[in-house]
Amino acid sequence: MKFFIDTANLAQIKEANDLGILDGVTTNPSLMAKEGIKGTEAVLKHYKDICDIVNAPVSAEVIATDFDGMVAEGKALAAIDKNIVVKIPMIKDGIKAIKWFTDNGIATNCTLVFSAGQAILAAKAGATYVSPFIGRVDDGNWDGVDLIRQISDIYTIQGFQTQILAASIRNSLHIVRCAEVGADVCTCPLDSILGLLKHPLTDIGLAKFLEDAKGLK
Ligand code: G3P
Repeated sequence: MKFFIDTANLAQIKEANDLGILDGVTTNPSLMAKEGIKGTEAVLKHYKDICDIVNAPVSAEVIATDFDGMVAEGKALAAIDKNIVVKIPMIKDGIKAIKWFTDNGIATNCTLVFSAGQAILAAKAGATYVSPFIGRVDDGNWDGVDLIRQISDIYTIQGFQTQILAASIRNSLHIVRCAEVGADVCTCPLDSILGLLKHPLTDIGLAKFLEDAKGLK
């Protein structure tokens, strides 16, 4: 399973990249706004800054919701860097736009996916990635990880090539469970990635080793 970081914060992207286990970055308009980025030029520059840190796929989301607008905006985003993946919402014109980008050799990430039916449509349009938002599914008292399992089963049976990118990850256990049920990618906040490191027995064991190592000097 690949690890993407789900943020537009350059320091966090750099920290995750320095770990050596980062396979990509996802952003969305909310994450960009959180960094205080304003205006088209600043947005495009920020995506370029991210691409300069990470030599791997970087999802950049369109704001337009009509086919022509999404294609124009997506073309401009894709021109920033070879690693840009055009992120497109799961709406009717979005499916048309994904098909257009697929036919024109531009990678896409179909976002705001909450059902297996939506994931089938994204795959039919040729999306490179499909992004089910599992934390938000959990928020509605449904099982987000089970949605990943269902999509994974369907894609395997049908031979769809679209990669399942589990998004809206809220904790480290989400990452482990997504790995269990066949997610191709997990896009995570930095805290959830670093949370995978934690185990009290590791801390206790290391303290003991370091204590005993004093006797070796
Ligand atoms: O990857 C999508 C993510 O950024 C949304 O997360 O926590 O707002 O549901 P959240």
